Amino acid sequence: MNFFLETLKVLLLSVYFLVESLVLLFLPVRKKSVAGEIVLITGAGSGIGRLLALKFARLGATIVLWDINQEGNEETSRLARENGAVRVRAYLCDCSKRQEIYRVADQVKKEVGDVSILINCAGIVTGKTFMDSPDTLVEKTMEVNIMAHFWTYKAFLPAMMASNHGHLVSIASSAGLIAVNGLADYCASKFAAVGFAEAIGLEMLALGKTGIKTTVVCPYVINTGMFDGCKTKWPRLFPILDSEYAAEKIVSAIQREQVYLLMPRIMYYLCFLKIILPVKMGLVVADYLGAFHLMDDFKGDKERH
Ligand SMILES: NC(=O)c1ccc[n+]([C@@H]2O[C@H](COP(=O)([O-])OP(=O)(O)OC[C@H]3O[C@@H](n4cnc5c(N)ncnc54)[C@H](O)[C@@H]3O)[C@@H](O)[C@H]2O)c1
Repeated sequence: MNFFLETLKVLLLSVYFLVESLVLLFLPVRKKSVAGEIVLITGAGSGIGRLLALKFARLGATIVLWDINQEGNEETSRLARENGAVRVRAYLCDCSKRQEIYRVADQVKKEVGDVSILINCAGIVTGKTFMDSPDTLVEKTMEVNIMAHFWTYKAFLPAMMASNHGHLVSIASSAGLIAVNGLADYCASKFAAVGFAEAIGLEMLALGKTGIKTTVVCPYVINTGMFDGCKTKWPRLFPILDSEYAAEKIVSAIQREQVYLLMPRIMYYLCFLKIILPVKMGLVVADYLGAFHLMDDFKGDKERH
């Protein structure tokens, strides 16, 4: 170990990677083919999960759909076939239950094969202040939004590691990077999802499993119905995202092997500001951006589920 040489190396590599990322901004990035890959999507019965399934179907992947909502999942399966899915299988799976995840995962391995792209998309939101949130819903939120990620990785990662090939996709949230008033359990689960995905990404690198990619997705509100009633204070700055647009960006990020996808783009700058601004100044900015009142008129998706 030589302090001078190691410091010089890190400085030179930093400059190199900075220039590389600037150059890549202006060059078309190669998109990997997902044809023939086995893509498993949890929460495929509606919203973003369904749209991702349809897009992967068009790209020639084998699609495995998991949801607790059998009707919604079968509808996704039907639509995927219409969109040209070569192979599609829908499974009823309650992702809040570890043993059920392991059981259905074994069934998938036997009936379809080893999953090579795992997309954890199933999610729920309580949408109440912390003291008004029933314990059962707090627990359920943690089970679906983060614990399920642990168990699905335990089930499908070994085969990816054995072949040094795979992609782990976590549909987290901008609420997993910057907290929002009225979303305590949801934020906790999404911060955990971001941390878990980052840590597993590092673990794969440390183990030399460079063929296993990670993509962490952190969108602001999307118009799927999950956050019905939420109003954005400055729609031009913070638009409610269109679900079709969000799904397209997610598929593109996976194909480009992008590690982080934050939507809208302003989220990248806000994350930076959160760390560097003095706390009181950060709170003024958060209030200005509407972080205290986003959930005031929250209705959620009671009608759909
Ligand atoms: N909609 C948004 O504004 C928004 C913003 C940021 C992040 N997200 C995240 O994106 C993901 C998809 O959300 P969406 O907007 O498509 O919502 P959605 O409600 O349309 O989809 C969620 C799906 O998860 C399924 N699900 C719920 N509990 C389950 C369980 N126990 N087991 C299996 N499946 C279960 C539901 O049946 C549903 O099909 C979620 O993880 C959500 O937290 C959504």
